[in-house]
Amino acid sequence: MDVKIFDNDVEAGKAAFDIIKTGMDNGAKTLGLATGSTPVEMYKAMVASDVDFSNMTSVNLDEYVGMAPDNDQSYRYFMQSHLFDAKPFKETFVPNGLAADPDAETKRYNKVIADHPIDIQVLGIGRNGHIGFNEPGSPFDAETRKVPLTQSTIDANARFFDKEEDVPRFAYSMGIGSIMKSKKILLLAFGEDKADAIQKMIEGPVTTDVPASVLQNHKDVVVIIDKAAASKLS
Ligand code: F6R
Repeated sequence: MDVKIFDNDVEAGKAAFDIIKTGMDNGAKTLGLATGSTPVEMYKAMVASDVDFSNMTSVNLDEYVGMAPDNDQSYRYFMQSHLFDAKPFKETFVPNGLAADPDAETKRYNKVIADHPIDIQVLGIGRNGHIGFNEPGSPFDAETRKVPLTQSTIDANARFFDKEEDVPRFAYSMGIGSIMKSKKILLLAFGEDKADAIQKMIEGPVTTDVPASVLQNHKDVVVIIDKAAASKLS
């Protein structure tokens, strides 16, 4: 893994976008995208740029089950407001939180990924080492599926909701097998509360207990972190 350490998330977000720009110059057509606090500065840099994304396709990692796209906590809403409304893409895919049939929705999303192979996948990381909503114990070969969120993730995401009970208990998540097929992976992490997960991801054993540790097996991963997230690396 190529580990790059920055002073803050603003500098790191710009650096992440620079890597995406270089990828686009070299023919990347499909971006795998993440939500949450971590990629916000990168999306700001994208929006502030003069780069045209209208030939690009995006495939998001996940969506809460039961969440309408126009609900301001949905990941579709997040993507529209942080990126797509300002920078239109050719096509944007996010799992449909309101799908009536979860099996059909996961099949549909797996076909979306198969039809749009991901050139550059952007990832955050959970405090428990999750990527997407692939919580500890998730199989390394999984495709998109409906997954229960762990209490650690529910607690972490409660900050976005009025009450903890409002945090959805299930999500559709791209699986680790699909993430690993991306040609290039950019994993971003900021702050001390990610330091443990970052240390285990980079220096620990490859184990399903720390889902992000699987990235040690990918040939092109750039880890973009701040000093706080890097503080437990040896
Ligand atoms: C979001 C996602 C999650 C987050 C992770 C970190 O689409 O898949 O894995 O990347 O939970 O969240 P933040 O960035 O809010 O700390």
